[in-house]
Amino acid sequence: MCPCSAFGYIMAPSSCHEIRGGDSSDCVVVVGVSRPKMALGILTIMLISLFLTFHMIYDTAISSLQNNNAVHPRPPVILLSRKLYPSAARRLPQAIIMGVRKCGTRALLEMLYLHPMVQKAAGEVHFFDRDDNYNKGLEWYRMQMPHSYPGQITIEKSPSYFVTPEVPERIRAMNASVKLLLIVREPVTRAISDYTQLRANAATASPVLPTSSSKTFEQLVLHPNGSINEGYRPLAISVYHHYLHRWLEVFTREQILVVNGDLLIEDPVSQIQRIESFLGLEPRIGTHNFYFNETKGFYCLRNETTDRCLRETKGRKHPRVNPKVLSKLRKYFGEHNQKFYDLIGEDLGWPEE
Ligand SMILES: *[C@@H]1O[C@H](CO)[C@@H](O)[C@H](O)[C@H]1NC(C)=O
Ligand SMILES: *[C@@H]1O[C@H](CO)[C@@H](O)[C@H](O)[C@H]1NC(C)=O
Ligand SMILES: *[C@@H]1O[C@H](CO)[C@@H](O)[C@H](O)[C@H]1NC(C)=O
Ligand SMILES: *[C@@H]1O[C@H](CO)[C@@H](O)[C@H](O)[C@H]1NC(C)=O
Repeated sequence: MCPCSAFGYIMAPSSCHEIRGGDSSDCVVVVGVSRPKMALGILTIMLISLFLTFHMIYDTAISSLQNNNAVHPRPPVILLSRKLYPSAARRLPQAIIMGVRKCGTRALLEMLYLHPMVQKAAGEVHFFDRDDNYNKGLEWYRMQMPHSYPGQITIEKSPSYFVTPEVPERIRAMNASVKLLLIVREPVTRAISDYTQLRANAATASPVLPTSSSKTFEQLVLHPNGSINEGYRPLAISVYHHYLHRWLEVFTREQILVVNGDLLIEDPVSQIQRIESFLGLEPRIGTHNFYFNETKGFYCLRNETTDRCLRETKGRKHPRVNPKVLSKLRKYFGEHNQKFYDLIGEDLGWPEE
């Protein structure tokens, strides 16, 4: 009789054959080594199962509590495990905020991040628009993404994607069915905001040299003879149809959601609900996630743990623009806006004077 068989371990028989008729102390050594290992293994499995069971019971209990509280549904407790889930991994984004700059891309991303099934990349990755990044390859891109667990959506935003010619084709090469979010604002407002930011950046970069940064908005958007300076970048970027048509040659209209940035600021909840539906997310973000700050004049965000308002610079005061110039610009954009509405199949009702 093999002495090992007494222990009844699966490993024992093969060890037994070798030691049968040999020195039985070998067998003791084999068992002596395998037994604690196995015990440790079993203990680990038991602990993990126990942990998972309690975790599930806890989550279920809490989410049923939340369901009873239907008027103000709280974000689900799964939020707590955003970083703990065992199969967390870095994944390529399934949705990208492609632009437009100064239209609220950051606000949009932060609002979507209130959803427990959304993960966001930190900062702007600029993978598809900068050759030096793009040449590092998709694996590098993936490593810039946050950890997520299966079923979560990873979102990245880089506003310059919208205006960079190579980008649509490159994104398609990554994932032809990716979901794209395009946030736009009334084009003249966007141009003024762009000008304000450029001027502020220039002032920071060279506070002693007031060069072109000291030119007024009016001086930059109009030629001395009074015609519109179409080459002025903040105006050019506001001609959305020039860029969007390239995207629509590569992606279907259904893959692109156009978000009205002016409405997102005024009434975030209704806009976010549309976006949740586009992304295939359960509706989770609601009025409980926002509160209006009277001093700032805009909505701030609230999740289970934190209240926060977007950075001060995002609400930077715009200069007063001569109403005649405003009206001239709005007339100029009228025709361009119509072309944009035709492309997206929706009239955003922007003023024409
Ligand atoms: C591509 O994007 C779609 C839409 O977000 C997503 O469902 C799909 O999983 C993505 N494919 C890959 C390989 O990431
Ligand atoms: C006004 O000036 C710009 C730039 O100097 C020029 O390109 C444009 O043709 C002029 N327009 C008219 C109507 O003269
Ligand atoms: C509202 O904004 C002001 C000005 O930035 C700030 O001082 C104040 O703390 C904010 N209040 C709340 C409730 O967030
Ligand atoms: C709430 O938001 C803050 C700031 O974005 C974030 O650090 C924190 O993880 C969020 N809390 C939860 C529970 O998601």
